[in-house]
Parts: sequence; C-alpha cells; structure tokens
Amino acid sequence: MKICVVGTGYVGLVGAAIFSDWGNRIIGVDIDVEKIERIKGGEMPIFEPGLSEIVLKNIKNGNLSFTTSLSEGMSDAEIVFICVGTPESDTGHADLSAIWKVSQEIGQNLGDYKVVVVKSTVPVGTNEKIKRIIKENLRIQTEFDVVSNPEFLREGYSVEDMMDPDRTVIGSDSERALSVMRRLYEHLGKPIVECDFRSAEMIKYASNAFLATKISFINEMGQLCERADANVNVVAKGMGLDNRIGPRFLNAGIGYGGSCFPKDVEALYKTSTDQAYDFKLIRGVMEVNSMQKDHFVSKITRYFGKNLSGKTFAILGLAFKQNTDDIRESVAIKVAKLLRGFGANLRVYDPEAMYNAKKELGDAGITYCLDKYEAIEGSDSLVILTEWPEFASLDLGRIKGMLKTSTIFDGRNLLDSEKVESLGFVYFCVGKRTNGLELLDKRPTGHPGVILKNGR
Ligand code: UGA
Repeated sequence: MKICVVGTGYVGLVGAAIFSDWGNRIIGVDIDVEKIERIKGGEMPIFEPGLSEIVLKNIKNGNLSFTTSLSEGMSDAEIVFICVGTPESDTGHADLSAIWKVSQEIGQNLGDYKVVVVKSTVPVGTNEKIKRIIKENLRIQTEFDVVSNPEFLREGYSVEDMMDPDRTVIGSDSERALSVMRRLYEHLGKPIVECDFRSAEMIKYASNAFLATKISFINEMGQLCERADANVNVVAKGMGLDNRIGPRFLNAGIGYGGSCFPKDVEALYKTSTDQAYDFKLIRGVMEVNSMQKDHFVSKITRYFGKNLSGKTFAILGLAFKQNTDDIRESVAIKVAKLLRGFGANLRVYDPEAMYNAKKELGDAGITYCLDKYEAIEGSDSLVILTEWPEFASLDLGRIKGMLKTSTIFDGRNLLDSEKVESLGFVYFCVGKRTNGLELLDKRPTGHPGVILKNGR
C-alpha cells in the first residue's frame, strides 16, 4: 500500500518505519527541514532501540522516503496518517493546533479518494471535527474518509509494540475506510476493535488513565505498607499473579512521568469536567502522583535535614523511565530540582538522557558524570531515580567505600533491601519499612538531621 505519514515524532517515525518494513511504500512528512535531513542521513532524532536499522534498511530498498512537502507526500498515497503532537495546553486540555493545521492542508491537497487516519492522541469529538475541516478546505470535490487509529506504543519499546500490538483500534463511520485499514493490519493476526470515532478516541485515554491508576494505586499501597510493616513488592507480586489483575504497571516508585500519562490523564479529567462530570478517581490518581515524589524527597530531608547545602548526592537516572533519553515530565528531573532547591549539590548520571538533562538542569551545582561509579565517588549519599536495569546490578561492596555516608535512597525499588542492609547501608526505598525508616521513627520529633561519617 502507498502511505503518507505526517509527523516524524515517536509515533510517526516508528509508524513509517514499521509500515515500510511490512512491504508498504511510505513517505514521511515533517515541516522540520533539519530533522528530515538528519533522518535521511540515517541519524535518528529519538533514541529508540532497533529503529535506525529498520529506517536505514527501508530507505535503502526504496520502501521509505521523506519530504517536507505535504502535497508531494500525499499525492500518490491511499492512506494519510496524521501523527503530529498534541501537547498539554495551559488549560490542561490537549493543544490541537497542529492537528487543525494539518487537516486544513490535507483538505487543500486532496485530489482523489484517500483514507485520513488520526494516530495522534486526541480527545473525544476531534475526529468528527477533522472530517469537517478537511471538507471545508477541499479545493476539488473529492471523496475521503477519516479513521481514528490510536497508538499504544511505549517509548523504548516502540518497535516491538508496533510490530506486535495487543490490539488495533480502528474507529470510523465508513465501511470503505475500515476495509482499507483491515488490509494494513490483518496480517498481524491480532484482535482488531472496529468502532465509532468517539469510542476509539476514548479507548486511548481510558487505557493510559487506567495504567496510571494502577501506578497510583500501588504507590498508595506503598504508603500503607510502610506504615503497616508490609512489603509493597511482595503485595504487587501476589496481586499480579491474579490473571484478572496482571503484574504489569504495579511497580511502586516516585510516580509516573513522560510525555503521555501526565498530559493524557489531565486531558481526560478536562474532558470529564467539560461534560459536567467530576471523574473523582482520576482526580485522585493525579493527586497521588503529584505527592509521590514529595514523599520520597521528604525521606531525604527527614534524614539529612532541610538544609542540604554542603551535601552532595549521587543521582542515578534522569530519564522519565528506562530505555529512553526522554526527560519530558520526568519525575527524576523534578526530584533533582527539589534537592537543588534544598541547597544540595548533585553528581548525576543517566545512560542516555545526559544531553537532554543538561539542557533542562543547567550547570549550577551539578556535575555530569560519565558513569554511575563516577557519580557515586565522593558523594554523601546515593539516590536512584530511574529504573535502568544497570542500576540494579551496582557493585554494593565497591560503592560502600565511595560514599561519605552509607545511605541509599532507592526511588525505584531496584536493590535487594536485605542485601543492602546486611552490608551496613542505611536504606530507604518505596513501600517497605527498611532500616532507614526504622531509624527515622526512633528519632525525636523535630530532629534536625544529623549525619555521622560512614553510616551510624
Ligand atoms: C505510555 C503507555 O504505556 C503506552 O501504551 C502509550 O502508547 C503511551 O504512553 C502514549 O500514550 O503514547 P510511555 O509514556 O512510553 O507509554 O511510558 P510507560 O512505559 O507507560 O511509563 C510511563 C511512566 O510510568 C514512567 O514514568 C514509568 O517510570 C512509570 N511507571 C510505569 C511506574 O512508575 N510503575 C510501573 O509499574 C510502570
């Protein structure tokens, strides 16, 4: 099939690459001239395992090409995918300005029947409006259809998620368009949910909001476990083995971040208030998430006191999760900023996100290190903020002698608490009453946070 993909962000670039790998002829379109040149030269604008190989292979075999001209990209295509960004606006609603602009241009350039497919995450009612805008902008009376086809890929795993999705959702009011979409996706042998526009749009928000709810739920369970002396990791394991619940998205931590969950949960809440409905559960999910990082930082300030000037913390992890260089809405970055706000100096390391983090955090009080041990060396304490697997395999014996105080604040529950404690560290994690919490509870209230050299 001949397909035009408008927008070369995560969804558009990965989509274009995978569709071409399935044997289709794809033209990717973006207004960013420099970005298009970089991609053509084989340089990926995002860090995504496996992506560059697929892009290069398909550029070489002629299945994949790129242009900055929408009319050129569209002219031959049977399907036009809209994959432009829908960031959060000042009001918490999705900012749809890029969607409206592309829809107008598609209308102006339409010369024969095409299926216009919306992959961007858009609130309920948007596909109907896109259809109206395209119609209003037609220069030649042409038939066309619109399909809502939300994307469920995760950053860092987008290639495998697109190659092997759990399901495909296609919402449309046209049987002709649905049959075109079936031709594109049927070979995957995975369930295809065919529905109306509005349900398709809602499935995307409901899925992200439900996953965010799982995370906030387990984070609140963690609060309870710390108080009731249970272990949230074990609780999650025991819950997750129930097929009706499932083990994924039950890792307690410092809260969810990234370019999707925070904005989509907020946008769903706005949709509900716009419909004069107060979605109380979602309000709670957002509130719990926003508090989660503060609970974590309060463990540090309860231990060391609120004046952290003169102290240096090794920060492992800056990306919003593992396997990405993305720091958008990263809770790790927020925690780093909070610690700086209390006067701390930071020695930071992330396997992929250093460049992006430096642009966000600047240089004042922060040393950017080449590896995890360089960050730890000479720091007062270790703080783990992103769930990179390489942080789970830290050589604890080695770092014991490197830290000025043997304290570890593990925001992702990566380390084995018993092992860490047996090596003489004072350990804090999320959702478990470790020796660090025991110690804080024994302190008199109002304790200023005295630190002893090399542990206690
Ligand atoms: C998310 C969804 O998982 C995708 O299905 C969706 O397509 C995508 O948003 C989107 O709307 O485009 P992504 O933002 O890449 O994908 O990241 P996730 O892997 O979902 O992680 C989101 C956040 O939740 C991260 O900060 C992660 O650290 C946190 N998280 C995740 C937890 O704190 N605990 C968990 O158990 C799982």
